[in-house]
Amino acid sequence: MSACCAPRYRKVFSKRLARRDARRYRRKGLDKTARSIVDSLAERGVSDASVLEVGGGVGAIEIELLKAGAREATVVELSEEYDGEAAELLAENGLQNRVSRRHGDFVELEGKVDPADVVVMHRVVCCYPDPESLVGAAAEHAQRLLALSFPRDNWWVRVGWYAVDAWFRLVYRFESFVHPHERILGAAARMGFTPVHEHSGPIWHVAVLERR
Ligand SMILES: C[S@@+](CC[C@H](N)C(=O)[O-])C[C@H]1O[C@@H](n2cnc3c(N)ncnc32)[C@H](O)[C@@H]1O
Repeated sequence: MSACCAPRYRKVFSKRLARRDARRYRRKGLDKTARSIVDSLAERGVSDASVLEVGGGVGAIEIELLKAGAREATVVELSEEYDGEAAELLAENGLQNRVSRRHGDFVELEGKVDPADVVVMHRVVCCYPDPESLVGAAAEHAQRLLALSFPRDNWWVRVGWYAVDAWFRLVYRFESFVHPHERILGAAARMGFTPVHEHSGPIWHVAVLERR
């Protein structure tokens, strides 16, 4: 992704959205899809694990994984607009020294990012035009577990997505995607990952994969 696209991401993934996400997390905890990712990872063991989350937003998943026993976390985010809310949430939970945040396109930054035991991408692949590069880079960094959520690929999700995407294109010149699952899971499989847990909600599909 060229540097010209980052401002568009900051417009969509804005301070206002960050405030809303942080408020919702304080009131209601994780959304159902994120909860199922954290529970599935915790079942497989995150004790003393290092975590990398790509496109982590306000960082709610890291907070929950650290509470479940993970040692430290890194977030790589294209949008800097989440930082203020993310810092407040970490301070409220006494975790400010255990999470670091980096900014940029993970596909471009990946060579400068350390691998981690667990890599998470929750609702991120749909914001990126090239799933093979993004998932491939995430899988390459995952030493043990890789957890992904992405839109279900069926007709009703595609119809709804098309309408929302048309609005975002018009207002923000921002495009999002329902990528075929074979492209997403195929990229992880080529890096040696096998699904160990899959679950579909009304819109989102969760896949937790383990390195073979
Ligand atoms: C729909 S938001 C999801 C945020 C958070 N994971 C959540 O579910 O609340 C997608 C996020 O992914 C980030 N993102 C998309 N592509 C990225 C990339 N290549 N590198 C880093 N961040 C990326 C965007 O900036 C945005 O914050």
